[in-house]
Amino acid sequence: MNEGTDRIDYRETPDLTEVHSAIRRESGDPTAESRQVPLWLTMACAVAVCWAGAYVGVFHGGFSGSVYNEYESSPAVLFPLPKKPGAEGESVGAVQSLAQIGKGVYSQCQPCHQANGAGVAGQFPPLVKSDYVVGGEKRLVALLLKGIQGPLVVEGKTYNGAMPAWEKALSDKKIAAVASYIRSEWGNAAPEISEAKVAAARKEFEARTAPYTEAELKQIPADATLGESGAPAGAAPVAGSAPAAPAAVPAGPSADELMAKGKQQYMAICVACHQPTGLGLPMVFPPLAKTEYVNGDPKRFAAMILKGVAGPITVDGKTYNNMMPGQEAVLTDDKIAAVLTYVRGSFGNQSPAVTPDIVAAARKEFAEKKTPWSEAELKAFGGAAAQ
Ligand code: HEC
Ligand code: HEC
Repeated sequence: MNEGTDRIDYRETPDLTEVHSAIRRESGDPTAESRQVPLWLTMACAVAVCWAGAYVGVFHGGFSGSVYNEYESSPAVLFPLPKKPGAEGESVGAVQSLAQIGKGVYSQCQPCHQANGAGVAGQFPPLVKSDYVVGGEKRLVALLLKGIQGPLVVEGKTYNGAMPAWEKALSDKKIAAVASYIRSEWGNAAPEISEAKVAAARKEFEARTAPYTEAELKQIPADATLGESGAPAGAAPVAGSAPAAPAAVPAGPSADELMAKGKQQYMAICVACHQPTGLGLPMVFPPLAKTEYVNGDPKRFAAMILKGVAGPITVDGKTYNNMMPGQEAVLTDDKIAAVLTYVRGSFGNQSPAVTPDIVAAARKEFAEKKTPWSEAELKAFGGAAAQ
């Protein structure tokens, strides 16, 4: 036999290539595959990068941490919408007078007061030549904001109905517009009422929730006008301080220092719930942007931070039912004043600074109070002091 004990056939050819030729013929050498990136994918990436660049370019907000506002970024920034005349908005305000804008708003009053402003006999009083319309600004704005109820004599006829309050449904601008419109239409010829005046009235009557009765309206002098206390001048009646100099903080820290210090406090404490944007979280934490509690009586605001707030509370038309812890044990008067100043001057708010002595006064006045504020208590807060 040609086989050795190791069972190798020594006649076998030693040429490996020949030995493996069959295998090589059946399956070729494996090679590492590399194909070019398809063109469409390259293009898609390029488009995505360009889009991202453009997006950041438009919405970067100066890369400031406090700017991002998911509710305000709008495609209109990228693709400006064609301006619609008659639509409410700052953009058209420049070319349209208040009364012209008011004509659009009046569509909400028309079902009752009619297109010609003559009302409906026995049901809806006329606006034509009515003393309430062409008389003092204050009465008119007050009744529009809060509504009216009960017997009301207009041009010698008595009506006994109810007009809803408009303060929730209409912005300052719209109320100013519709008031200006009814004052200048149908032969009425009273001067227009500016947006700032309506804003001032809204502040002044903030504490009131009930509609007016005729007797109460008459208490507002027939010729009372409104001051233009636009922001920030005199925007809120600061208890005990001169209303004419809102920004001037007597002695102590300057408004700028308060702002900076307040931002620190805000970022340390309030941010967890009310968010860096001050917009809160839907259903859970109310916003601090432009709310009555923030921009109203500073003493009330201070009292809220000291004692906390609990139970159902309506902010910006939405109801929250949660609880905010009081900070009286944690924060000094200075720190609370700072954070209030910061909140009142941020997120689009433009209310005057709050001094530590206002906080100190609130702390003293409510020293005995052990429970957080309820909405009802807060609503009553300004009422006693302001009226
Ligand atoms: C749901 C019907 C209704 C709507 C809508 C309505 N009103 Fe009235 N308005 C009334 C009633 C009713 C009275 C009288 C209330 C009373 O008898 O106490 C009244 C009274 C008034 C008065 C005082 C009396 C007068 O005639 O001078 C003015 C001013 C007025 N409304 C303006 C407006 C304006 C502006 C709007 C639109 C923003 C408006 N109303 C929308 C029903 C309505
Ligand atoms: C633990 C979460 C939490 C923290 C921290 C917190 N809040 Fe609140 N805040 C709430 C809740 C919840 C409410 C609503 C309470 C309710 O539903 O009764 C509220 C309500 C308010 C309101 C009244 C409603 C409004 O939005 O106008 C103001 C003002 C306010 N907080 C300011 C502050 C400030 C300033 C700070 C920091 C000092 C702060 N909060 C810290 C949870 C918090």
